[in-house]
Amino acid sequence: MDYVWNEKTLAWFKVASAHTGFHANLARLVRPLIADCETICDVGCGLGLLDLELAQDVRDILCVDRNEAAIGALNELLRARGTRNVVARAMDANALVGERWDAAIMSFFGSSLEDIARFLTLCDKRMILIVHEKSSTGRRVNAISLRAKPFGAAEVSGFLSERGLRFRETRAALEFGQPFKSLADARDFIRTYASLASHAASAADEAAWERLCEDMERRLARTGRADYPLYLPKRKNLAVFAVEKSAIRDLS
Ligand SMILES: C[S@@+](CC[C@H](N)C(=O)[O-])C[C@H]1O[C@@H](n2cnc3c(N)ncnc32)[C@H](O)[C@@H]1O
Repeated sequence: MDYVWNEKTLAWFKVASAHTGFHANLARLVRPLIADCETICDVGCGLGLLDLELAQDVRDILCVDRNEAAIGALNELLRARGTRNVVARAMDANALVGERWDAAIMSFFGSSLEDIARFLTLCDKRMILIVHEKSSTGRRVNAISLRAKPFGAAEVSGFLSERGLRFRETRAALEFGQPFKSLADARDFIRTYASLASHAASAADEAAWERLCEDMERRLARTGRADYPLYLPKRKNLAVFAVEKSAIRDLS
């Protein structure tokens, strides 16, 4: 299932990023890996929050996502901040042909390992790959995301090694929990993600929905803040790979 961006999920995502500093922290991991790069293409950029953090480090960034709501929201952020060296394009990343960048970023993007090989052709220097530490089927109950994670760090590392690609890997655990304005906001979050992620967990299955909410409420922390008094903690375990383009021997 693709990530579903709409007014609500975009707003939750922005608040979570601002509150936890997730993208600022992620940018700290990525920055040294693109120190010699001037141009970047973020493939499947979503809201592009990582790119906003990296904008001051490079000359140009192209952000590509096929979701128009995400690209619309990114364009609003770019206008509001007066950022001119980041361009957001609503398009299918598979249609990116004939253009090249120093680096390409794939952050929690890609439905198969073969996507890595495909998008590596877009860059001259290296690919920055950010993946969940572990793959999962997406069936488990997770208050933040119920999507399948088709590959994790071990699968990526195996895939790159088999192809003789030179890479560096960094592991990190970054906080990316969700602040809420109220309990109703938190319940709306769970209802929205549960119904987006699973046809089985439909609104008709009230018992399952109540169990999800009870589980979430047990984990909610009180922040003492007036604007976002509740917080659902989440550590995101991830791996950042820098895959060197110069070392490619055989991608077939
Ligand atoms: C899990 S989100 C990750 C977004 C962002 N990179 C991040 O780290 O927050 C995956 C994104 O890939 C986009 N996407 C999926 N397939 C795509 C394709 N073929 N072309 C462009 N975007 C695509 C989705 O719309 C979604 O925004």
